[in-house]
Amino acid sequence: MYKALRPWLFRVPPETAHEAALLALRAYGAVRRPPAVAAEGSLAVEVLGLRFANPLGLAAGFDKNGQALRGLAALGFGFLEVGTVTPRAQPGNPRPRLFRLPEQRALINRLGFNNAGMDALAARLRAWRPAIPVGVNIGKNRDTPLERAVDDYRLGWAALAPYADYLTVNLSSPNTPGLRSLQEPETARVLLGALREDQAALHRQSGRYVPIAVKIAPDFTPAALDALLAVLAQGLCDAVIATNTTISRPPMGHGPAASEPGGLSGVPLTTLSREIISKVFKALPNIPVIGVGGINNAEEAWNHLVAGASLLQLYSGLIYEGPGLVPAITAGLAERVRASGQDDLGKALSAARRNLSSGSEPNTVKF
Ligand SMILES: Cc1cc2nc3c(=O)[nH]c(=O)nc-3n(C[C@H](O)[C@H](O)[C@H](O)COP(=O)(O)O)c2cc1C
Repeated sequence: MYKALRPWLFRVPPETAHEAALLALRAYGAVRRPPAVAAEGSLAVEVLGLRFANPLGLAAGFDKNGQALRGLAALGFGFLEVGTVTPRAQPGNPRPRLFRLPEQRALINRLGFNNAGMDALAARLRAWRPAIPVGVNIGKNRDTPLERAVDDYRLGWAALAPYADYLTVNLSSPNTPGLRSLQEPETARVLLGALREDQAALHRQSGRYVPIAVKIAPDFTPAALDALLAVLAQGLCDAVIATNTTISRPPMGHGPAASEPGGLSGVPLTTLSREIISKVFKALPNIPVIGVGGINNAEEAWNHLVAGASLLQLYSGLIYEGPGLVPAITAGLAERVRASGQDDLGKALSAARRNLSSGSEPNTVKF
C-alpha cells in the first residue's frame, strides 16, 4: 500500500508530505484503537523502570507537538518520543529546510526546532496519553543566549516532566546555533546537575521518578566523546540516546540535495551511530543506551541492539519504508529471538553480545 502511495507522496515537498502524513495518522488514530499492549511477549523489555512491549520506538522530531499520538501508537511501536519542544513556540528556519535523498534512503534537515511550545504539548499530554511509554524531548529557544540555556531546559522540565515517562535533554541538534557546545563536559555537568535537582524535587513532591535521557551527536572526536562520557559516568543521567543526525557527509554518492547544509539521517548514518552506541555501551555499562540512526530493517535493528542498545528508535526509515516497517522490524526481531533458542530478547542479546566479544560471530548479522 505505502509502496504504491510513495511516488505520489514524493512528488510534493517533503514538509508538505510530512504534514499530510501527520493528518493521516490523526485520522487513523481516530478509527483504529491502539493494539492491546502485549508486555509479556518475547520482545518485552524493562528499561528505566518502564515496561516496553517491544524495544522499537519513534524517534524525536516526527511528531514534535504530539498531534498524532493515537495513530502512531496504533502502528505497533513499543514507545514514542515527542518533541523537541522549546519553552516558547518558534517558527524554525526558513523553508525549504527538509530534503530527501532517495537514492541513499536519507534525509537532510535544518528545521531548527519549529514547534508549538512546551505548554501546547503539556496540554495535549494532560488530555490524553497512550498506554505505551512516552518520552518528551526538550531543547532551548533559538534566541535564548547559550549562557542561559539551562533556564530553558529547567522550564521544559517543569512543564513536561509531570506528563512524561522519561525526559530527553537534547544537546545535539545541529540546527540551533551553539546547541552542540552544551555537550562540552563542564557545560553538560552544570546543565544536567541542575536537572538532577529538579528531578529529585519532583520525586520528593510527587513520588514520581522521571528518568533523564541525554541525546548526543554522532560527530565527536574520540577525545571529546570520552570527555563527555566521563562526565555522564558521574551519575548525571539515566540513559543516553545515540545518536542525533550527523553534520558529516559519509561517502554516499551525489544527488541534488546531498550538499544541502543540515543534519543527515537515514542509511548513511547507520555505521556512525552504531560506533557511538558501542562506545557508550562500553564506557557506561550501567546506563541503558537508546540506539537510533539509520535503522530501516530488522537486521540493522538487531545489529544496533547487539552493539549495545537496550531500546531503539527510528525516523527516516518510516519515510522510505512506510508504517509497515514497524511490524516488519518487530516480527524480524522476534524471529531472531526464536532462532537464538532463547525465550526472550534480553537473553538472546546477552548471548549474541558474548559471541561478538569472543569473536565467534561477525560484527554484523545477516538474517
Ligand atoms: C526531519 C527530522 C526532524 C528531526 N527533529 C528532531 C528533533 O526535533 N529532536 C531530536 O532530538 N531529533 C530530531 N531528529 C533526529 C531523529 O530523532 C534521529 O535521531 C535521527 O534522524 C537518526 O535516526 P534515523 O536515521 O532513523 O532518522 C530529526 C530528524 C529528522 C529527519
